[in-house]
Amino acid sequence: MVLIRTPEIWNIPDSAVTAEKLYWNRRQFIKTIIGAGIGASAMSLVGCQNKPQSAQPGELTALEKSLDLPEIESVAKNPAFQKTGRPITEAKVAGQYNNFYEFGANKRIWLDAQNLPTKNWQVEISGLVKNPRKYSIDELKTEFPLEERIYRFRCVEAWSMVLPWIGFPMKKLLAAVEPTSKAKFVSFSSFYDPEITVGPAFHLGSLPWPYTEGLRIEEMANDLAFFAVGLYGRDLPKQHGAPLRMVVPWKYGFKGAKSVVKIEFLDKQPATYWNTLDSREYPFESNVNPSKPHPRWSQATERFISTGPGLSWEIKETLPYNGYGDYVAKLYS
Ligand code: MTE
Repeated sequence: MVLIRTPEIWNIPDSAVTAEKLYWNRRQFIKTIIGAGIGASAMSLVGCQNKPQSAQPGELTALEKSLDLPEIESVAKNPAFQKTGRPITEAKVAGQYNNFYEFGANKRIWLDAQNLPTKNWQVEISGLVKNPRKYSIDELKTEFPLEERIYRFRCVEAWSMVLPWIGFPMKKLLAAVEPTSKAKFVSFSSFYDPEITVGPAFHLGSLPWPYTEGLRIEEMANDLAFFAVGLYGRDLPKQHGAPLRMVVPWKYGFKGAKSVVKIEFLDKQPATYWNTLDSREYPFESNVNPSKPHPRWSQATERFISTGPGLSWEIKETLPYNGYGDYVAKLYS
């Protein structure tokens, strides 16, 4: 077992976290796409960067502010999802260690994501449902009782965390909107506004914005599938995908679309962002599987980022379905 510690959680050295040469370098990726001027679908991309979004000491106040959100009161802790066998990751570590490509492919996504406008947010439910409608976030929060679930989170790039989400099971939304018998798949789209989501990669026409993800309807109906509106007892921070994001803990992290504005029920498998870019590296299903290596690295182990006086991480064995096989293995037999 390898245990590495650094003294300050807001200043995580790259070298400590990243087995650099194994992974795509984000800046290189941008340069290559711009330089090549070709379709990004021809490129090999990283679905889930593991470079830290290190807040420098001077930025710590901004980081703390981004996490200092209203508390969500009277939330029941779901007893089935309190223990993960691992400690919860520190909020300030998780809150500066994000992927949100709409806001950039650099090390300051957590800061740039503060430009996300979350007021008067609407989520449109459409397609093959009996009750299509638009929900405001307040309507979602009042119509579906909120609960806390502590889930393991596993990035496709072999790092992991444990996060205490607040939200509601996706199956509650299914019961409300009543998909028709023709609905077999569900597509989830993230917020998209070329005036606001202006990360360096954003204006490259060949990238398939908006960010979309998809599930089979049976996956959405599974007990584990969750919509988060909060984290660490408070409203969801913008860098984590406020005000509503998907959480599907048996799948790699890129399957969890952030800042969802549209949910569409379909009879065919939808195109999704990473799968459109590279279907070999990012298959539609993408369940956590230690015995199925990524084309460029092993998935047998992971760097578990926990907590402590400083950042610490340990090499742990990756579990099939991220340890949630009892809930979901039946979907894939
Ligand atoms: N959703 C959107 N809209 N845009 C993104 O770039 N990145 C995905 C996923 N959802 C992403 C997204 C990836 S690759 C990961 S690993 C997780 O968000 C990261 O979630 P976190 O930043 O809350 O840890």
